[in-house]
Amino acid sequence: MRTLLISLVQSINGSYAQDDWSTGVSTDADFAYFKSLRRRAGAIVIDRRTALNPQLPVINAPGKAMAATPVHVLTSSDPDALAAELDARGLRYRAHHFSPDTLTEVLDSLESRTDTILCESGPHLAYRLLASYEQAELHLSLSPLYSRNPGSHFCRLEADIDLRLVGVESRDSQVFLRYRRA
Ligand SMILES: NC(=O)c1ccc[n+]([C@@H]2O[C@H](COP(=O)([O-])OP(=O)(O)OC[C@H]3O[C@@H](n4cnc5c(N)ncnc54)[C@H](OP(=O)(O)O)[C@@H]3O)[C@@H](O)[C@H]2O)c1
Repeated sequence: MRTLLISLVQSINGSYAQDDWSTGVSTDADFAYFKSLRRRAGAIVIDRRTALNPQLPVINAPGKAMAATPVHVLTSSDPDALAAELDARGLRYRAHHFSPDTLTEVLDSLESRTDTILCESGPHLAYRLLASYEQAELHLSLSPLYSRNPGSHFCRLEADIDLRLVGVESRDSQVFLRYRRA
């Protein structure tokens, strides 16, 4: 079974983004930590909305550290429609269907350079994967920012996920928490 690292940043008051940008809740320490996770990853997983957001830079653009890393978009909706949309936008990401029952099989079948896969999605897909995949490890950074305005973004997924803390690290006054399923 592969290891799935899920990277998420949250502000002190629990927001995952400001005006659709996770940079609104993250810091330079997050960026450095995020790059250290990327170096371990053989493939990247993102959600449909992140993949199709025209404002976001292409994740594995030429010249970036991830240029040779496959990017997979996981969806519980129609993967063929998603693949057509990705194609129309010239995005070289691959669309895959998943459900909680097929997730292990899907993750094991993804093209990857190593047995570690990194999820860089927003909170909804991230927590759905955490709820369904035994080998998931959540890397949660609590950035030392408080920000609440109309663009604050909170996760609305309805789920109960039992977790145990497996690691705590601090860098530059910032806390990174690692969780696995209890
Ligand atoms: N803080 C961070 O670390 C971080 C990282 C990345 C992105 N972001 C931010 O997160 C936001 C996008 O992520 P999001 O998760 O909030 O996007 P979202 O559009 O709410 O959810 C993403 C995917 O989850 C499914 N989904 C949507 N609503 C759901 C619900 N209520 N219950 C279950 N599944 C649901 C859909 O997948 P299907 O295709 O399966 O239908 C959708 O494509 C952006 O603002 C982005 O900037 C933050």
